Amino acid sequence: MERLQKVIAHAGIASRRKAEDYITAGRVRVNGEVVNELGTKVGKKDRVEVDGVPIYQEEPVYYLFYKPRGVISAVSDDKNRAVVTDYFAEVPERIYPVGRLDYDTSGILLLTNDGDFSQKLAHPKHEVEKVYVAKVKGIADKQTLQPLRKGVRIEGRKTAPARYNILSTDKKAETSIVELTIHEGRNHQVKNMLAAVNLPVQKLKRERYGELTLKGLQPGDYRRLHPKEIKSLLGQSK
Ligand code: URA
Repeated sequence: MERLQKVIAHAGIASRRKAEDYITAGRVRVNGEVVNELGTKVGKKDRVEVDGVPIYQEEPVYYLFYKPRGVISAVSDDKNRAVVTDYFAEVPERIYPVGRLDYDTSGILLLTNDGDFSQKLAHPKHEVEKVYVAKVKGIADKQTLQPLRKGVRIEGRKTAPARYNILSTDKKAETSIVELTIHEGRNHQVKNMLAAVNLPVQKLKRERYGELTLKGLQPGDYRRLHPKEIKSLLGQSK
């Protein structure tokens, strides 16, 4: 059983706050009866209507997507650029990305229609571990990267301690490949952190999200998450 406002929000009709307004305004019926109490719980078999229009209660679904570069982490774009849900044309549920990756970043992105799941994962306190691999301009060494262990100030706020690994350096091209492990999910966080130590990012990929990797997937591929993987993510995010 779920709260009525959550079921309405989940169906994509309105935000939870708007759904509450609809309920208190008497615009919502359950099995034909107007329900205007916010605490009301409904089950899968209950027929919920908003303004006389029945809503369809979707099963929650969870996908792991290998986002290619050059795709927006959104469900639509006013400039008609490619968006991640273009890759899910045959998926009937109204899914959306959990957090985001930049347009030019590739790698793991989760998509779901479960608002609670995405809210939990996005909560700053419970962020799961994410591993990024960045190609940067400059020669990375321990001394340069050291400040990232303690945290660097970005837009007036210090980042949480991060771990790094130098995977390779190319002295001729003056570039390096650096692996960075972080828990937070601020906008452009990895690019900003590496820029803060004078290693501007040229290419970025998210290779791990909690225990999830891109194993077996090519850019543009997706797969359903296993129930164990969903549990493990929520376990890590508490
Ligand atoms: N950090 C970034 O800078 N960009 C991303 O897309 C993800 C993390």
